Amino acid sequence: MDKKEARKIIQDLTRQVLHHNELYYAKDAPKISDAEYDRLFRELKKLEAEFPDLAKADSPTKRVGAPPLQKFETVKHKSKMQSLDNAMNIKELEDFDERVRKALGKDEIEYVCELKIDGLAVVLEYKEGKFLRGATRGDGVTGEDVTLNLLTIKDIPQKADKFSGEVRGEVYLPYNDFVKLNEDREEAGEARFANPRNAAAGSLRQLDSQVTARRPLSIWCYFGSVESSRLKTHTHTLDYLKELGFKINPNIKLCPGLKEVKEYIKHWETAREKLNYEIDGIVVKVNDLIDQRDLGSTSRAPRWAIAFKYPPLQAKTIVEDIQVQVGRTGAITPVAHLKPVHLAGVIVKRATLHNEDEIRRKEIKIGDEVVVQRAGEVIPEVVKVSKHTSSSKAFHMPKDCPICHGELYRPEGEAITRCINAACPAQVKERIRHFATREAMDIEHLGPAIVDRLVEKKLIKDVADLYCLKREDLLKLERFADKSAQNVIDSIDGSKDRPWDRLLYALGIRMVGRNTASLIAQHFDGLEDLFDVKGEKLENIPGIGPKVAHSLEHFFSQKENRHLIKRIKDYGLRIKSEKNKGPQPLKGKTFVFTGGLETITRPEAEELVRKLGGHPSSSVSKNTDYVVAGTEPGSKYEKAKKLGVKILDEKGFLGLATPS
Ligand code: IVH
Repeated sequence: MDKKEARKIIQDLTRQVLHHNELYYAKDAPKISDAEYDRLFRELKKLEAEFPDLAKADSPTKRVGAPPLQKFETVKHKSKMQSLDNAMNIKELEDFDERVRKALGKDEIEYVCELKIDGLAVVLEYKEGKFLRGATRGDGVTGEDVTLNLLTIKDIPQKADKFSGEVRGEVYLPYNDFVKLNEDREEAGEARFANPRNAAAGSLRQLDSQVTARRPLSIWCYFGSVESSRLKTHTHTLDYLKELGFKINPNIKLCPGLKEVKEYIKHWETAREKLNYEIDGIVVKVNDLIDQRDLGSTSRAPRWAIAFKYPPLQAKTIVEDIQVQVGRTGAITPVAHLKPVHLAGVIVKRATLHNEDEIRRKEIKIGDEVVVQRAGEVIPEVVKVSKHTSSSKAFHMPKDCPICHGELYRPEGEAITRCINAACPAQVKERIRHFATREAMDIEHLGPAIVDRLVEKKLIKDVADLYCLKREDLLKLERFADKSAQNVIDSIDGSKDRPWDRLLYALGIRMVGRNTASLIAQHFDGLEDLFDVKGEKLENIPGIGPKVAHSLEHFFSQKENRHLIKRIKDYGLRIKSEKNKGPQPLKGKTFVFTGGLETITRPEAEELVRKLGGHPSSSVSKNTDYVVAGTEPGSKYEKAKKLGVKILDEKGFLGLATPS
């Protein structure tokens, strides 16, 4: 192929890939299959490699998976990215309103109230509808060019009709993803992010855009430089941006006067706890764009807007003690026992201290006065020490487990100390509790309190022991009558029949959740096939990462674990696929359920999918084959519609599952 021809094909492929990107990412309505898209994409990449001087810097092939950068380029902002003045209380808000009214000579001002997202400000540049470049705020005058990373955020449109200009917004990490990211980092021995804002900044300012791509960042846009006489107000601008495909926060409110602004502020002071992202206040903006222009700016901030800052959801209290808890996998978590304190509507008595390094970094001692904080629905944490006292005592991680007195061990490079005695009663209790849960072996009458008593009375020490329990053993426990003892025995017996992927999950292997277990079961015939499996083989399964693979390899290489599985097998549990599995009409198909089902429960439906060879998953993606929408389906339904995933109702699903 000569260069002229290559140029033409590259142009054509680029156009096609961009078009399908837009359908997929901006419009959420793909028109071609993934395989077809991949073919176009690969062909373009191949030609760009053959003719590097024809490869454009903004080619869609550079979107994800571009080589890591050495350093960010700097970007001089077209107009200064300003900050906002703050109002720390209602009086300061009233003063702002008075200044604005006086300057404009008006009795009442129409304001727009917005949530002040606690993320990272970015500016997105578009030319003739094309996303050209994006940068961080930096010092307000120059920022960093983070275009490649912004391209991985699916909420940022790559095409915006014919729009030329700038859009500003706040990039953030949803709260649940922040919690999960920190858990993963802790498992991997990496430092935790202090808050979602830092996590968002750390994720966006990555030299390797593949890392950014793995973090589910999102954006709320709040400003657009639109030159149009049609747009007279800030809300018009936001509506226009929304039409162009930008994400605009749904909680924005038009307020005819200060009274409504105050009501908005009052409402969100408590309602903010229910949001899945952090806000640190409310931004109040004059709605009329001519008024905004007339008010102008100081060197630092516009005169037409103010940020009303909420006090953080924090309180001060005393650390009365620090004790450690032992989890199912032996992880030792230090917990601060606090003098009870009111915080955002609840009384807080405990706060997690995460691990030893966190305590050292924050210099927390027993007796200190500390600041505790609650965000979302999670367990509170200690932010910092506000006062040491002369009698404060340093915490030392115990050398021995507080429960079994066995040795504690902190592997090199990891943040978590563990009790390595697999027979530790605390771990044993947690493991057996987990084994019996509904999602695992579903042993209905074996609740956590019974497990604890059975372990304490030394009637069981592992999950296999459950299967040789007798009614008489249970009768030895207090408050156990004949009938309840029989119920426990019957439900343990009934669990022998569970398919082996549930057993795999029930074993409580680190990082192996229910869906991972079912994925593994599609590639192996039984638990014994995993005994000598190598991590690399597991990593070849799409959806299994190196950490999960390593965790499985480690678990099955331990002779105690193999012995446990042999005993389980002897008690008649299913440790491999049934020879005669029955029909597998859903083989290889992925299902996501949303909304309520009427004739079957959600776990039963998921189990049915597994039994028939399919794979239930909790999130919708382009790889999902079917979304089953029950009554009042949630956002997964909307997403399925956008991605063009087949949607079934309950009847349709049961029809597939039980073909006539
Ligand atoms: S308007 C010239 N609106 O808060 C107008 N800012 O403390 C500039 N922020 O730098 C900002 N949510 O990063 C605006 N709804 C919102 C916002 C918001 C968060 C951030 C933004 C700004 C900082 C000022």
